[in-house]
Amino acid sequence: MESGPDSLFVTLLLLLHSSHSESERFEVLGPTDTILAVAGDDIILPCYLKPNISAEDMTVDWLNLDFKDGRVYRYQNRKIIREDQIPSYIGRTSLFEEELWRGNTSLKLSRVQGTDEGHYKCFIKAKSWDHDLIIQVLVKAVGSKPVVSIEGHREGGMGLLCESEGWHPEPELVWLNSKGVHLFAGPPEIHRDFKGFYTVKQHVIVQETDTNRFTCRVQQSQINEKMETEVHLPSELFDTTPLRMAFIVLCCLGAIIGIGLSLAICWISYKKDDLTRKLDDLTRKLDELKAEKEVLRMENEDFKKKFNFENLWNQNNDITKKLEELIRKLDDNKKGSNDNKKGSNVVEEDLIRNLEGPREGEGGCDSRPGILKSYLRRTGDTHFLGDKGSDG
Ligand SMILES: *[C@@H]1O[C@H](CO)[C@@H](O)[C@H](O)[C@H]1NC(C)=O
Ligand SMILES: *[C@@H]1O[C@H](CO)[C@@H](O)[C@H](O)[C@H]1NC(C)=O
Repeated sequence: MESGPDSLFVTLLLLLHSSHSESERFEVLGPTDTILAVAGDDIILPCYLKPNISAEDMTVDWLNLDFKDGRVYRYQNRKIIREDQIPSYIGRTSLFEEELWRGNTSLKLSRVQGTDEGHYKCFIKAKSWDHDLIIQVLVKAVGSKPVVSIEGHREGGMGLLCESEGWHPEPELVWLNSKGVHLFAGPPEIHRDFKGFYTVKQHVIVQETDTNRFTCRVQQSQINEKMETEVHLPSELFDTTPLRMAFIVLCCLGAIIGIGLSLAICWISYKKDDLTRKLDDLTRKLDELKAEKEVLRMENEDFKKKFNFENLWNQNNDITKKLEELIRKLDDNKKGSNDNKKGSNVVEEDLIRNLEGPREGEGGCDSRPGILKSYLRRTGDTHFLGDKGSDG
């Protein structure tokens, strides 16, 4: 057996190397059975290293293999890495950091929802070694008690609707009669909400039976759960007699309203004819009155023509001119021969005749007396100005 410094060095190297590779080698262990998670609960997805070495300086990745992109959780360089986290897991995942030093890399998942179902990979990576484990998680959610609503008379019976929500996995809905026989129903309508829970509803048309009891059952065989609701329909509901009565009543009402309306229309049209007749009478009378008015207007115009003031004025002017002419002639006569009294008298007589005519007829608006008087004053022939009786 050698005991030199060289052999000691080689032994130390071998020891170091062996310890290094030993410390890097580990297995990732966890449950082999499927984990059944109840929706709404907080669960632990177990995962740990064997041997129980510290995982504090390793990378711990939790993945849901049903999601192509993103991670459930990542721990790296002693920090939580939040980039690329699947949105539905934000705020609901954590590691037990105080357990990492002894290789416990279990994941805590809070408030389990439908979308959490899937195959999870617990992946642990050291500097020169990595290993992983896959765990299957099933999410179980028992939905609400089915709600049955009566939709009313349908062709072939009474329409019913059954609805139940909050299921996971997707449930099955069946309609049964009181003997447990499946009823033929319409296609099921299934919706999945953003948390991955299912709502199911289905319409059915039922006929009257001895019991009139019908059951809506929503069941999930994988999780061995079912919920059901039984309804009892009163047989009066199936009776269409009230419906027929209502129909007859409606028909009668319609007929009465129709007759009333036609009577009203007849009366209105009769009234309208009456009014039209009266209006015609009035129009005729108005025309007559208009004709009368026209006659009166024409008479009035005739009258105006007959008693035209302008004409009278013109006549007056004519007469005045004649008078002035006569006066001029009289002057001439007086100048020509003072002894020819006879001729002068003829002119004066002519003058008097002219003067007297209009004086009797017209009155104030005649200018002849003024003209005559001024002439007489001018000539000094005053015997015309005084009383005719004092002539001499
Ligand atoms: C690690 O495992 C061994 C047995 O394999 C056990 O005795 C020891 O207590 C464990 N250490 C921790 C910190 O859990
Ligand atoms: C890991 O830690 C959690 C929380 O303390 C505990 O419930 C679980 O049993 C631990 N797992 C192992 C394998 O020690």
